[in-house]
Amino acid sequence: MDAHIKFETAPNKVARRITKMRPSAVRLLFAAAQRDDVISLAGGMPDVSLLPKSAVRKAAKAAVDAQAVTLQYGGTNGVFDTAAVFCDIVRDIGIRHKPENVIITTGAQEALDLVAKTFCDPGDIVITEGPTYLGALQAFSAYEPEIRTVPFDSQGMRMDLLEEELERIGKDNPRLKFLYTIPNFQNPGGVTMSPERRKRLLELSHEYDFVVVEDDPYGRLRYEGGHCLPMRALDDSVIYLGTISKMFAAGLRVGWIMAPPGVIAKINLAKQGTDLCGSVFDQVMAAAYFTQTPWQNTLQKFVKTYDKRRRAMLDALDEFFPPEATWTRPEGGFFVWATLPPYVDANSMLAEALDHGVIYAPGDSFFPDGVRGRNSMRLNFSYESPENIREAVRRLAEVIEDRLELYRAFIAAGAIKE
Ligand SMILES: Cc1ncc(COP(=O)(O)O)c(C=O)c1O
Repeated sequence: MDAHIKFETAPNKVARRITKMRPSAVRLLFAAAQRDDVISLAGGMPDVSLLPKSAVRKAAKAAVDAQAVTLQYGGTNGVFDTAAVFCDIVRDIGIRHKPENVIITTGAQEALDLVAKTFCDPGDIVITEGPTYLGALQAFSAYEPEIRTVPFDSQGMRMDLLEEELERIGKDNPRLKFLYTIPNFQNPGGVTMSPERRKRLLELSHEYDFVVVEDDPYGRLRYEGGHCLPMRALDDSVIYLGTISKMFAAGLRVGWIMAPPGVIAKINLAKQGTDLCGSVFDQVMAAAYFTQTPWQNTLQKFVKTYDKRRRAMLDALDEFFPPEATWTRPEGGFFVWATLPPYVDANSMLAEALDHGVIYAPGDSFFPDGVRGRNSMRLNFSYESPENIREAVRRLAEVIEDRLELYRAFIAAGAIKE
């Protein structure tokens, strides 16, 4: 009997955690996004065509030239010199950190998995923004915590609602482990946590004894407004996650964890069983990119290009979206979060949108229960040209308008309540 048939006849052998996992809607849409007649606002990809070939070649050459090191196994914490480069990079956003207290990971995605692997037993409590990054929900759910969500507004996570949640959880609750937040240009919300709320969150973390996990992939992609200090710059107990994916190359799979030494030691143990070590080649190439090429100039190119695309999206939303819809106005990052009237189901509307040549990420994917957020959608503006973004929003507005007409008719007939 081959392995496939054996599996089909024995689904009861599968671990409980796998049966609870939901596939990423964005991954499922990947095939549709490749179609020539479809404009995709569903993904979250950086536009790596903006990287100068000469810089990429130089960084790759440095990794090839060091082949005795880069094609070999490395230490679990990663290449020390690369960790030192990352410590240099974060100094200008206010973080002072020693390279010995860094673990380099296979993208920030692995960092999310390792943090949950290190902290969570089944039934432990983790708090996130609601909605939050789908990949974080996927990573955490493998360790079976109870994920509680706190809504955000234009100033980031609502601290009044967080306090209410913490009161429900109780002060000395050993099940409460960490709070995961994306304070800059949140994925999927696009909102940024205000400095006051960052301070309040840190106070609450001490009062209620939980760890703050600060995930910051988009912090350098700010298109307007002033820089906000990361919480890690204000409090050494914060676990800070970074990545080169949005500043350089998502395909290289290099991220990092900056945390207190005791936490780093435990995460190191967790990582040994996952992959022994990350790609040394990728890490050396990343260090070369940030030390031997004018990466700040390239970053400015990313910022200018994404800003144009963001403006194209916001202008198109103003022009085409119906008055019943609302949306966030991100100052940076990759995403706008749009909310439709409660009776519009953005998930079931996706098939119609695809017929109209546009796709987006339905909002329910970003909640742990897969139910809330059904009338919302995440719209990405980092990848398509301004012209395509405008056209995509126009097509999407048509689809929404069809739905609204239907619902308006139902409401007028008294079949559903407004
Ligand atoms: C908020 C957030 N965290 C982590 C990641 C994972 O990034 P990486 O490519 O470094 O694994 C992403 C990717 O889109 C993200 O949006």
